[in-house]
This record gives sequence, C-alpha cells and structure tokens, in this order.
Amino acid sequence: LSFLKSLSRPEQFEFEGISMVHYFTDNWENVQNFKARPDDILIATYPKAGTTWVSYILELLYLGNAEPERQTSMPIYIRVPFLETLFPGMPSGVELADNLSTTPRLIKTHLPVQLVPKSFWEQNCKVVYVARNAKDNAVSYFHFERMNMGQPDPGDWNTFLQKFMEGKTVFGPWYDHVCGYWEKKQTYSNLHYMFFEDMVADTGHEVEQLCSFLGLSTPIEERERITKSTHFNTMKQNKMTNYSTVPIMDFTISPFMRKGKVGDWKNHFTVAQNEQFDEQYKQKMKNSTLQFRTEI
Ligand code: A3P
Repeated sequence: LSFLKSLSRPEQFEFEGISMVHYFTDNWENVQNFKARPDDILIATYPKAGTTWVSYILELLYLGNAEPERQTSMPIYIRVPFLETLFPGMPSGVELADNLSTTPRLIKTHLPVQLVPKSFWEQNCKVVYVARNAKDNAVSYFHFERMNMGQPDPGDWNTFLQKFMEGKTVFGPWYDHVCGYWEKKQTYSNLHYMFFEDMVADTGHEVEQLCSFLGLSTPIEERERITKSTHFNTMKQNKMTNYSTVPIMDFTISPFMRKGKVGDWKNHFTVAQNEQFDEQYKQKMKNSTLQFRTEI
C-alpha cells in the first residue's frame, strides 16, 4: 500500500448532481450493478457521522468471538467494504464485497439515498443509517480532509464551512443526505435511522435498539462487552479500527479517531459563523421533521 503515499489530492467535479472525486465514481457501472443479497446489511452515512463506530458494533454483534483472527489481522475497511471506492492498486469496494465470505455481509456507503444501487432496495436489505448534527459533522469532515490525501484540500476552516453550507463537499449536501434517508424510512421499513449524539449519550441503549431492529437476541452481558470494545478510547488504540494502517492519512495533522465528542463545533465556529449557519440551516431544514441535538 505504500505507493499510495505519493497520491496527489483529487479534483472535485459534479457527478449525478453531487460533488464527487474520481475514487468514488471510477467504478460507477459496477457499483450501480452491484448484486445485493437479501441478508446484506448496508451501513449508510454522510462522511464522518460515525460510520466506523457503527460498523464495528455490527461486526461484533454478528461475529462476536467467532473469528478472532479476523479481528486482529484485518482492518475494518477490509471487513466492511466501502462500496463505491476504487483506489489505485487496491481491490475495489465491489470486489471486496463480492469476495466477503461472512454472512451477513456488512457493506458501507456514503452515497446519497437516490444513488444507492437498486438491488439493495429490491432485495429488501436492512439499512442502518447514522446521522450526526451538521455542525459537528462539518468540523469532523474539515479535520478529515486536512489529513487525508484522498480528499480535496479543505483550505482553512472558514473556506471549508462555506463549502459545506453550499453543499459542495464530497458526497454532496449534508442536508439532502440526512433528509433523503429520513424520507426513505417513511416508506421503507427495513431502514434503521440512528443518531451519533444518541450513541455518545447512551451506547448501550443504541446497541439494544440495533439488536431489536436486526432481530438479534444478543444477551445483555455480550452487549455490554461490545459497548466496551467499541468505546472511543478502545477503538483509538485498536490498529484494526483506528485507520493507522492507511498510508494516505497523516495522523500528525489529525488522527482518524480525533475526539469522538458532541459539541466540538463550539471550539471552531465563530459567533458570526454560527449565526450565519443557523439562519441557513433553518431555511434548508424547514420542510423536514428531522431534529438533531448539537449538545448533550
Ligand atoms: P471526530 O472527528 O469528531 O472525532 P466516520 O467513521 O464516519 O468517518 O466518523 C468519524 C468520526 O466518528 C470521528 O469524529 C471519530 O472520532 C468518531 N468516532 C469513531 N469511533 C468512535 C467511537 N467509538 N466513539 C465516539 N466517536 C467515534
């Protein structure tokens, strides 16, 4: 993987109505034609909403201690393939998913709901969506782009925030993403909509809710063990979940497991930025019943 180090930051362009970089569109036909199986579980999120966290929870719920080697030798991004990716010199997300031998297959996507391959809906797959409040989501995304050479250069915080508000960040507008899946849930009952803030406030409860959605009767002791293993500090120490094996990420700029908190936006937004943001937010979200907590 070391050759990835020399990778240069990608250009952004409009693709199917959203802002994209080529790593997520180069394999488009195979992604759109992906053959889901009825027992596949799709983990869908806007980038930086808690994807890795929920992926690891799901992985432990299904595999538990069954395959210890898998958990100590295979990074989470291999165990839970990122469907739309095609990075040079690496198997594509589709290939990784096709080659998964575990059941169910856990598959990750950041695609907005309208671009999810049809087959997931046709097969009535379970979909787990995690949403995070816009302000913390933006802050986390900013630091992620600073350290990840596979993403465009975010510029300074103000530049990035304007871009986020304009819906020009990679994978498109946060607003449409969270609202799109929220609306889908009204007609597609196999979608479980979760919030990052609830996971921070009471992980155990969220794991319990997940089990009930998935139809799992995981005993309480096991759920508690999972809650512990997926704690921020534990995942930050765990090489298989902390992304330290990805050469295009520079942890000296910012670690992947950065803070894991609700409300860090307060350390980034100026009063003026916050006012501008709130005003625009009200406009963009006025037709949605979706409610977020920006502090807990
Ligand atoms: P911060 O940058 O705010 O720290 P994703 O996995 O979707 O890329 O999301 C990454 C964000 O989730 C980062 O947020 C990361 O620290 C946080 N995160 C990951 N695992 C976590 C955990 N176990 N508990 C709390 N936050 C976690």
